Amino acid sequence: MRMALLLLVLPLLAAPAAAGDLWPDVLGPLGTAGPPAPLPSLSAQTCNACHAAIHDQWKGSGHATASTNPVYVEAVRALGAPPLCQECHLPLTAQRADLPKGPGALGKSARQPNPAWSPTLASEGVTCAACHVRGDVIVGPRDLAPERAPHPVRREPALQTAEACAFCHQAALPGAEDRPFLDTVGEWSRSHFKEAGISCRDCHMTRVSGSIAGSRYASFASHGMLDGRSPSAIARAITLEVTVRSPNVQRGDAVRATATLLNTGAGHAVPTGDPSHAVELRFQVLDPGGLVADGGQDTSFWLERVVGLEAPFAEVSDARLPAAGSAVFDYAWTAPKKVQPGIYTLVVSTHWWAVRPERADAVGLVEDDVRVDVNQQRIQIRVD
Ligand code: HEC
Ligand code: HEC
Ligand code: HEC
Ligand code: HEC
Ligand code: HEC
Repeated sequence: MRMALLLLVLPLLAAPAAAGDLWPDVLGPLGTAGPPAPLPSLSAQTCNACHAAIHDQWKGSGHATASTNPVYVEAVRALGAPPLCQECHLPLTAQRADLPKGPGALGKSARQPNPAWSPTLASEGVTCAACHVRGDVIVGPRDLAPERAPHPVRREPALQTAEACAFCHQAALPGAEDRPFLDTVGEWSRSHFKEAGISCRDCHMTRVSGSIAGSRYASFASHGMLDGRSPSAIARAITLEVTVRSPNVQRGDAVRATATLLNTGAGHAVPTGDPSHAVELRFQVLDPGGLVADGGQDTSFWLERVVGLEAPFAEVSDARLPAAGSAVFDYAWTAPKKVQPGIYTLVVSTHWWAVRPERADAVGLVEDDVRVDVNQQRIQIRVD
């Protein structure tokens, strides 16, 4: 689905992104005057020399692999490598192998090689410099005296607001401004988290103790982004509660279960971001030998957003969990008259998918590339 979606978006996505001092008003490559003197290079490897802890956290996040992860690479290849994809996955000019010949030039024939291309930087995806280098200065959250750092520094207040993220995590098409296809910042701004002053960084860049190179401060903002794709991070967002009525049944009777999913930890919908993301709630019944019971095959419910296949990709339905929202699902398994009596197991699980399995297949990815197993509960049922 995202394939069809983004292919058609290409000429249209000149929509205004976040306006402000940190980012340009519209999507486009971020020029830099090169590394701020006396730093020898813009690469994250340079920053690693002094900001090693932050470097290692960033390295483990999706930002560091934004241009190399298999889901992205396959999606770009399937689309014929449209330049648009680079706007957020390879945000710096020096990360682009080629550039448009002139303003408004679209398509591959209107492009020319970029003499400043750095394949090293290109492999770093959303690298340090994308958020921290503006002109020939490094922007940071604090008001540091210039002599505190071995490179120029300037305080940029926007770094501590959702604006730091909106350039890439919020995007709409003309005609669907009220239903953006990337709406994480919008979901957050409609939630009570915004009102309470809890922003992206409060959850994704929590302060950890330790000091950055030569710093007077005892803590710094972590850059692992909560390790967004790890089962523990997603489990923090989704609470799964299961109730089973009549766990002891006679053959021929139904076992009825109710699962409630609650978004107890994310400051936005779950799943958020790309419309191809989905959360699956799965029920399964195993027999006393641990094999799938008769009639107990996987039954799945999907929490996802569906958008139209044509511009402006207006939302067709939204069955996700909004911030602080919940949803209830009923399931029943009838113990067949002829099964052997004994202890059966109802398995209720949640899985986060970058793309649903059938769409992953279409671009040659295997399930393990795109699935995260989040929670699982096993409930014993007695069948007499
Ligand atoms: C030679 C060591 C060194 C290198 C290399 C280096 N930095 Fe720094 N950086 C420092 C020191 C020291 C400070 C000041 C720390 C303090 O007093 O809090 C600093 C401050 C900063 C700040 C401001 C922090 C704030 O609190 O506002 C940012 C942002 C930053 N560096 C980013 C980078 C980036 C990005 C790179 C690579 C492009 C880099 N640095 C390379 C040593 C270095
Ligand atoms: C220059 C563009 C850009 C900016 C700015 C940006 N992001 Fe991202 N972010 C991305 C891209 C691209 C991905 C997807 C990486 C992938 O999986 O391909 C991503 C992924 C993530 C993820 C998923 C976690 C993971 O490890 O896969 C989280 C969480 C996240 N970003 C949070 C933030 C927050 C919080 C901010 C603001 C402080 C921010 N981002 C700013 C581009 C950006
Ligand atoms: C406006 C910025 C922006 C543009 C333009 C953009 N992306 Fe992304 N992309 C993101 C962000 C941000 C994420 C992370 C979303 C999330 O996890 O919430 C992402 C995630 C993805 C993912 C999911 C990766 C995963 O592991 O789940 C794929 C695939 C992807 N983008 C492909 C593309 C392709 C192909 C294009 C070009 C046709 C493109 N993107 C253009 C910002 C962008
Ligand atoms: C109250 C805490 C909280 C706040 C505030 C918050 N997030 Fe999250 N976020 C989470 C949790 C927990 C997850 C893991 C669940 C998931 O992946 O869906 C997450 C996941 C994500 C992901 C990864 C989703 C994916 O598809 O891989 C992105 C991207 C993201 N957040 C961006 C943001 C941005 C941008 C903001 C600010 C507008 C923000 N978050 C505000 C807690 C928060
Ligand atoms: C997606 C954007 C993004 C990327 C990529 C990124 N940073 Fe940051 N960085 C931020 C934001 C936002 C803050 C301020 C967070 C806060 O104060 O809560 C910050 C803060 C910092 C600070 C000051 C920490 C403190 O609390 O004093 C340093 C130093 C820093 N970053 C260095 C780096 C280095 C080095 C890299 C690459 C390895 C990097 N950053 C990559 C967004 C980013």
